[in-house]
Amino acid sequence: MKSFVFANIPRIHFGVGSFASLADIVSQFGTRVVLICGRSFSSFPPFNGFLEQLHRKEITAEFFTLTGEPSPQYVDQIVGQVSKRHPACVVAIGGGSVIDAGKAVSAMIPAGEAVGDFLEGIGTRQHDGQKIPFIAVPTTAGTGSEATKNAVLSENGPEGYKKSLRHDHFVPDVAIVDPELTLSCPPEVTMAVGMDAFTQLLEAFTSTNASVITDLLALEGLSHAVRSLPVIFEDPGNLEARTGMSYAALLSGITLANAGLGVVHGFASVIGGMFPAPHGVVCGALLSPATRANIQKLVTTGENPDAIQKYGNVGQLFSTEPLSSENRLELLGNRLHDWTRIFRIPKLSTYGVTRSDIDLIVEKTSQKNNPVKLESFALRKVLEEAL
Ligand SMILES: [Fe+2]
Repeated sequence: MKSFVFANIPRIHFGVGSFASLADIVSQFGTRVVLICGRSFSSFPPFNGFLEQLHRKEITAEFFTLTGEPSPQYVDQIVGQVSKRHPACVVAIGGGSVIDAGKAVSAMIPAGEAVGDFLEGIGTRQHDGQKIPFIAVPTTAGTGSEATKNAVLSENGPEGYKKSLRHDHFVPDVAIVDPELTLSCPPEVTMAVGMDAFTQLLEAFTSTNASVITDLLALEGLSHAVRSLPVIFEDPGNLEARTGMSYAALLSGITLANAGLGVVHGFASVIGGMFPAPHGVVCGALLSPATRANIQKLVTTGENPDAIQKYGNVGQLFSTEPLSSENRLELLGNRLHDWTRIFRIPKLSTYGVTRSDIDLIVEKTSQKNNPVKLESFALRKVLEEAL
């Protein structure tokens, strides 16, 4: 068996109704909290109940909302505003962007310095890992950020980027995963972030850095995603399917933090910096052509037989009948293609990506941990199919 290191995971409170324990958990840390929330969730009824509970417990909350993705300036502004009052913890309630914002704020409060100095590929300084406690409460089933050690911050425009603030200590202290909260997530966002979770599980499963433990968790997450995503599309109020996807997304975060990701996320980090395209949409649009490209290269070269076996195992999840290796791979390719169409995942051109951008995107894209190295022509073909 290959040696492995398995990182910390948060204390996880999982299940319908677990959000009700948030105020009690906050009170274990102290009486002053920084609260960051997605704009749409702040009008969701359970949120008002939570604020009343904080009030009854005499906990003071400094409240911030986030629309879109967090920039370094957004994080610096909150840190500048709250640091002097020494908050006991940070709570983020929202999608992956909100959780990443909260994670970065909790990491920057002790030092009070500009976060850009510590971003991978942008800053030159190493963070020492000191932070204040952080509680992540996802309201989407997607990025799995509630279980990861990095916060992605974005700067948009031609010089734009999407870069991570990363440290092993930045894994949230507590994750409250209440599938009921995902009912507040609009249908098109639900499907796009669901495709992100599926992509993360598939890429972690087939990663060159996968281990026996991430394999177990990734396949478990994939089997829940395969069952749950189509049900949610047909019936967004189905709480059992929502629970399956929240579980899959949580596992996607745990597995990506430990195994890494593949070429879809390599593309997504470049495209997300250049264009205002939501991360889930980028992953959803690229998943099918990138998976086909990986499988084609693996089959024709015969390299990395483990990865081809794993793609086959995922293909088998889509059928109740036992399938041959060849049919498993074909079914996986076909189903992912169908999902992109049926779930109405927008094409990348919707967000301004054109053929003339392809060369630059290919040049900047990392394939670290992808199960096979794709040539430039294959990368270009994947992008063309997703335009
Ligand atoms: Fe992702």
